[in-house]
Amino acid sequence: MIVMMMKKKLCCCIWFILSNLLPVFVVSAMNHGNPANELVNIINENRTAQKLPILKDNPGLGCMALQYAEECKANCTSNNTLSCQPADDDFTEIFAPNCGVELPTFDIISGRIVGCQFKHIEPSQAFSDILVRDKKSLSLLISKGHTEVGVGFIGNNHGPFFWCILFSSGQTNSTFVLEDGGRGIKQKRGCFSGTNIQCSGVDEIDLFLNTLSVILIIFICYISGTMMP
Ligand SMILES: *[C@@H]1O[C@H](CO)[C@@H](O)[C@H](O)[C@H]1NC(C)=O
Ligand SMILES: *[C@@H]1O[C@H](CO)[C@@H](O)[C@H](O)[C@H]1NC(C)=O
Ligand SMILES: *[C@@H]1O[C@H](CO)[C@@H](O)[C@H](O)[C@H]1NC(C)=O
Ligand SMILES: *[C@@H]1O[C@H](CO)[C@@H](O)[C@H](O)[C@H]1NC(C)=O
Repeated sequence: MIVMMMKKKLCCCIWFILSNLLPVFVVSAMNHGNPANELVNIINENRTAQKLPILKDNPGLGCMALQYAEECKANCTSNNTLSCQPADDDFTEIFAPNCGVELPTFDIISGRIVGCQFKHIEPSQAFSDILVRDKKSLSLLISKGHTEVGVGFIGNNHGPFFWCILFSSGQTNSTFVLEDGGRGIKQKRGCFSGTNIQCSGVDEIDLFLNTLSVILIIFICYISGTMMP
């Protein structure tokens, strides 16, 4: 009888744990995609459709794009416009060092497209609605001068969501090289392209609270289990 009751309680506990953990797994699986990589794919699909060569996804460039986004995200206004002009020196004096880009491999930045807004949208929608919505950005997108691209993306529930695309006309494979394979990157939030590193700082709090509640439930199960006669 007691054994049966314990089994029932255990079942109940397991059900509780599963129902709490499952959403966590689903959410983290959804976050595993890297929106910055998705945007690079969209850019390259658009270019190949117009018979233009694809751009090499350069993680050093991507990391600097994320640095740019970090510096500019506070300047996103409520009407989704943006007034942010980082000094040119910031690239070599702040962004590159923060990413661990080897300075001798720094090359020409041949274009940049930035955009921001306060609600979350998919990369494809960001591409057409925010980033490439006028002649100027379209001509940058399809310029024959570029050889490489890097995308940075930063955002969370409280907005703004900020995108930065950097193009380079440098020699592929030898530019914006990351020291130590990119292990020294001083960027704790957001995503950048050209890497398998999953995005960080996105919905961290939700994940934390959920994990906390699961631990609490396990604890309560354990206590009530040991207190059974
Ligand atoms: C957007 O907001 C900025 C600053 O708040 C303002 O200068 C600009 O004119 C606005 N743009 C539009 C299109 O409303
Ligand atoms: C952001 O906006 C402020 C206020 O308009 C301005 O002083 C600052 O230079 C801007 N930041 C950048 C990086 O352009
Ligand atoms: C490329 O993107 C632009 C801007 O969103 C769009 O107008 C155009 O139709 C796209 N081209 C292709 C072939 O998808
Ligand atoms: C760059 O590296 C990739 C893989 O390492 C290689 O396939 C490609 O041919 C290289 N491109 C150039 C321009 O050297």
